[in-house]
Amino acid sequence: MFASHPYGIKITQALNLAEFPDSPADLYDPIRYILSLSGKRIRPVLVLMGAKLFGESDLDRVLPASVAIEYFHNFSLIHDDIMDRAPLRRGKETVHQKWNDNVAILSGDALLVRAYQELAKCPNQHVPDLLTVFGRVALEVCEGQQLDMDFERRASVSEADYIEMIRLKTSVLLGGALQMGAIMADAPSAQQELLYQFGEAIGIAFQLQDDFLDVYGDPADFGKQSGGDILSNKKTILAIRTESLVRGDDRNEFNLLLSSDQMAPLEKIDRMKALYLKLSVDQYAEELKVRYMELAYSKLDRIEVDETRKQELKDLAQALLDRTR
Ligand code: IPE
Ligand code: IPE
Ligand code: MG
Ligand code: MG
Ligand code: MG
Repeated sequence: MFASHPYGIKITQALNLAEFPDSPADLYDPIRYILSLSGKRIRPVLVLMGAKLFGESDLDRVLPASVAIEYFHNFSLIHDDIMDRAPLRRGKETVHQKWNDNVAILSGDALLVRAYQELAKCPNQHVPDLLTVFGRVALEVCEGQQLDMDFERRASVSEADYIEMIRLKTSVLLGGALQMGAIMADAPSAQQELLYQFGEAIGIAFQLQDDFLDVYGDPADFGKQSGGDILSNKKTILAIRTESLVRGDDRNEFNLLLSSDQMAPLEKIDRMKALYLKLSVDQYAEELKVRYMELAYSKLDRIEVDETRKQELKDLAQALLDRTR
């Protein structure tokens, strides 16, 4: 998505410059592997945009924080793919599938440590504030991931509980990335907070779209297994909306699908998609996504910088709204 964007190019260059030892190969090869796959680089771009919004002109100063965020994100993906039993990531085998779970755990851990080492390279006066935001967000991601797994085993999850779960597992990192950029541009804390809230709202819209694409995306483009969330009984927006609407025989069908561990994967996906279609839950997800985007824009409107400076964040939000991968 940002591969050809000037910020994306800058980030790719920085990632390419980073050195990882050759040995032990099973510790560092998976890190090189995941970083070389074509991620969208949204979060590191947000760090740069957050700094730029508040007038930072030397983006090279901001790059280590940007790299740190991308390292953290890739660490979270390596571990998420173990937890979600996912075979595919960015159109290629996941780390645990290509190597094994132990390799994925340890190379993920090493990548998290490297994220902290990048933060230590940031301008000294900003390091304490950066660590505060980064640490808070990183723990919240863990909290969200635990809730995500807890919800797999729960029959019913409210929409409010779902939104809180995705706020934690996904949104706070987008908000935190922007706030870290703002910190490095010495933005006042009230302004940082508004930018953080913009990021949180686009993050919720982003995860709603991710849930949608898990079912309806083109796997060749989206790069992940189609229907993976259905197979692991994830409480996505599509699933919880279905649970709240489904009645009569369809409710029996829904419960049967959730408890069926013997059914062929494609059959389970097809039968669940038939319920989604009947209840138009995809449309509901779309409407909710638009509402969170509007909330995001309302936060951005309140930020006190020249309106022209906000354009690149508006373009990014628009690109996220319509994304197919
Ligand atoms: C995937 O994030 C994890 C989610 C929070 C849905 P991205 O869709 O940004 O993954 P990459 O980095 O582009 O592969
Ligand atoms: C991922 O949510 C959130 C984190 C990685 C922290 P998902 O499990 O929906 O992400 P994908 O779909 O595997 O990328
Ligand atoms: Mg996953
Ligand atoms: Mg997950
Ligand atoms: Mg997903």
